[in-house]
Amino acid sequence: MKYELVTIENSPNKEVLTKPSKPVEFPLNKEMQDLVAHMKEEVIKLGGVGLAAPQIGQDVQIMVVYISDDAMGLRKDAVESMGPTVFINPDYKPIDGSQMVDDWEGCFSVEETTGKVPRHSKISYTAFNEAGEPMDGEAEGFTARVIQHEIDHLKGTLIVDRLTEGTIHGHPKDMALMRIKDMNKDEKQLMKKMIEETIAKGEEAERYQELLAVLNNELA
Ligand code: NI
Repeated sequence: MKYELVTIENSPNKEVLTKPSKPVEFPLNKEMQDLVAHMKEEVIKLGGVGLAAPQIGQDVQIMVVYISDDAMGLRKDAVESMGPTVFINPDYKPIDGSQMVDDWEGCFSVEETTGKVPRHSKISYTAFNEAGEPMDGEAEGFTARVIQHEIDHLKGTLIVDRLTEGTIHGHPKDMALMRIKDMNKDEKQLMKKMIEETIAKGEEAERYQELLAVLNNELA
């Protein structure tokens, strides 16, 4: 099975991004096992922190979260790294002490808009792992942000739905410039290293070349 990245701007099957996905039954059948294996590889290849099944055209409630040490280095509210972790049929709710926090988010399925998305700072979540075992837990900061972003995908919600009036948002090129201006030299260098590694893995998205150009200019 060949999976292709679906974008809201350019894919003929883009409706998969804006409708709720179906719950998955256990034990996983061969098709779902293959999908899970592919997604765990793909999130690394793309240089992302998360990937949801609708983003590769599959309307099932499967997502992967991957928070590397490098990714943590770019986020002041990152508290824990997470190897590629599969969440099936997940849900979340904010917990006591949670606040709404705006921070940068991009999405592989939204090519023309990024921005500072408001998210709950602390959540509890429910989900199942690949074996069908419950993996309920709590998350905060950047981890909570990524989980909320990916669960949004499974409900048919995109960052463009949350980047409403009053939020900072715009074209990725302009937003990258704004974000990079806010970074210190170490953060800029870390981001450059991560983008170079992603490009070296064969990822050709134009946004990476643009970011790299901005970073090289800033670090020169
Ligand atoms: Ni996304």
